[in-house]
Amino acid sequence: RFQSTAGPWASGGAPDFAFAFDIDGVLLHESKPIPGASDVLRYLEHHKIPFILLTNGGGKREQDRVEDLSRKLGVPLTTDNFVQSHTPFRQLVDGPEGLRDKTVMVTGSDYGKCREIARSYGFPNVVTPSDILSDQPSIFPFRPISELNLNPHPLPTPAYTGESSLVPLASSLKIDAMFVFDDPRDWAVDTQIIMDLLLSHSGHLGTYSTLNNDPSLLNCGWQQDGQPTLYFSNGDMLWAANYHLPRFGQGAFQASLAGVWRRYTGGHELMRKVIGKPETETYAFAERVLNAYRHERLRETGAHGVSGLRAVYMVGDNPDSDIAGANGFRSEVGTEWVSVLVKTGVWSEKRQGMGMLKGVKEPKVILADVKAAVKWACGKHG
Ligand code: G3P
Ligand code: MG
Repeated sequence: RFQSTAGPWASGGAPDFAFAFDIDGVLLHESKPIPGASDVLRYLEHHKIPFILLTNGGGKREQDRVEDLSRKLGVPLTTDNFVQSHTPFRQLVDGPEGLRDKTVMVTGSDYGKCREIARSYGFPNVVTPSDILSDQPSIFPFRPISELNLNPHPLPTPAYTGESSLVPLASSLKIDAMFVFDDPRDWAVDTQIIMDLLLSHSGHLGTYSTLNNDPSLLNCGWQQDGQPTLYFSNGDMLWAANYHLPRFGQGAFQASLAGVWRRYTGGHELMRKVIGKPETETYAFAERVLNAYRHERLRETGAHGVSGLRAVYMVGDNPDSDIAGANGFRSEVGTEWVSVLVKTGVWSEKRQGMGMLKGVKEPKVILADVKAAVKWACGKHG
């Protein structure tokens, strides 16, 4: 059982500190709970110490993922204290990007699930690479793509099939933004279609923008209005799965796509928008979710006049995302975010390589695992 010093909060006082837990490499290795993870979450629940789950994982709707996590960890979790990589994309539907009445293409590990996620955020017109492949089989001459992804829906309008240099008919399919929600499986077809769209005339599939013939204008053809058109939900090169060495994540696909763009355009950098940890906006979003969750839990217990959080302990396994993000984040409400690196994931003393602990990636403390991290933090508020 997980035992720790029962601090002032044990007598019903409202704790003024909280936790943000990374998932892969801290709580789970894929579907397997890391020893101590379930005990720790139960302990925090019992002592009403608030926490959120803050993961660069994704690929399922929030409700489906928390049900999955509750089952795996044996702890009841809700979407109220859960932020996954693409959760902040919900804000884009009615934000200045004005995507509510636009058409978006989504990709990731399971095209069908990515469509469900986008629809749950409020995107009305969602297209997947499988829909395009079904409408235009010759767009990608190689086969097969994963069985899982052969579930096409009809396109909202036909893709353009005329002369590639002509300005397309207004009625042809126009994609206004593309989202990578989680780790794609079909890199080849995703790369082909994303490149087709980046090189197209304003997102009209099947066209080729003549702007691309002038290197000085390159990379602004479709993005000439400056709005980022390609969104990645995180930039993780590595993550901790069951294998004893870290595995490539969505950041590896992003690097591959940027390499294809650089080669095609003669050295231009691919313009894209990347969210997730370590991005500041993701931590600001997570802090707002955590404070709303804590406020609601305190309201339920009748506590009032409670001070804000003094500290949030960000417990992570990846210096490039969890540690760098916590160290680089300046709280909007004066809370100190304390980075705690554990040895159960991407980083290990033996494998210094990725996540070299320098500067922004240097954690406040390095501890064995999530249980040691919670003991250490609670001991500071005992
Ligand atoms: O795809 C999962 C990976 O990017 C890392 O997830 O939970 O360690 O932020 P997490
Ligand atoms: Mg992790």
